[in-house]
Amino acid sequence: MSSKRTVLITGANQGLGYELALKIGVNPAFHVILACRSETRGNEALEKLKAAGVQSASLLVVDITNPSSISAATEILTKDYPSGLDVLVNNAGVALGGTTLEDFQTVYSVNVFGAALMTEALTPLLKKSVEAGKADKKPAPQLLFLSSELGSLAKQSDPESTFYKTNYLAYNSSKAALNMLMVGYSKDLKESGVVVSGYDPGYVATALNGYSGPGEASKGIERLAELILEGDENTGKYYKWTGEELPW
Ligand SMILES: NC(=O)c1ccc[n+]([C@@H]2O[C@H](COP(=O)([O-])OP(=O)(O)OC[C@H]3O[C@@H](n4cnc5c(N)ncnc54)[C@H](OP(=O)(O)O)[C@@H]3O)[C@@H](O)[C@H]2O)c1
Repeated sequence: MSSKRTVLITGANQGLGYELALKIGVNPAFHVILACRSETRGNEALEKLKAAGVQSASLLVVDITNPSSISAATEILTKDYPSGLDVLVNNAGVALGGTTLEDFQTVYSVNVFGAALMTEALTPLLKKSVEAGKADKKPAPQLLFLSSELGSLAKQSDPESTFYKTNYLAYNSSKAALNMLMVGYSKDLKESGVVVSGYDPGYVATALNGYSGPGEASKGIERLAELILEGDENTGKYYKWTGEELPW
């Protein structure tokens, strides 16, 4: 398994995470780890992926809001992947329109704290793969975050921007906070050789938005899949699904 590039995707049992696992997993050079909070939903997704032609995939049960669950998952990964992880995709996310303390806490605990805790736990494994990758001539390890144009301060303050009126305070601010995490990690990890970037898949139909998005998840995730399949040397970028870069 060590000659394959290992890609861990949080929240991979449905939506964008699932579609990304499919696009990456059908390539025999990759092993995909579906990091899901529900063992049942994770196994169902694994079966579906295998039926769709994914040969090398496994399930890791982890709730990214629970530090003990993250510790247990990290222990398993450290044992099972001694040469490290090649790509971590912080994809799991939730959206709520409300503004109560509970709404803010729920959204931030997954979208911000969960992504940060997973990154803190798994960065040593990404760093480990830098050395292993050099020997195998693999592309640089990648730390990727599913963000959103809704988290762009520049876009949200531009009345001409498409989503100017989409003012979900908890969700939008959580993605702005996530963007700052990306900037911070890209600086912290620059010397280590781990490439960090954020990605906006566009407004696509998934459970997160009650399937209201006009786009398709498989299309929205296409460019991110290319960045993983081809490798990317540019750190600190905020990519949009269309290929252009977004302003912070
Ligand atoms: N859809 C869009 O239009 C859109 C636009 C911009 C950005 N995004 C971002 O894209 C990412 C994926 O969203 P999606 O649209 O694909 O939504 P989705 O279909 O609702 O999938 C979200 C995934 O996150 C998982 N998750 C939630 N809380 C978790 C936790 N505590 N621990 C582990 N996994 C957890 C969910 O697991 P369960 O199935 O168990 O609930 C699910 O697998 C999110 O970060 C979202 O903000 C989406």
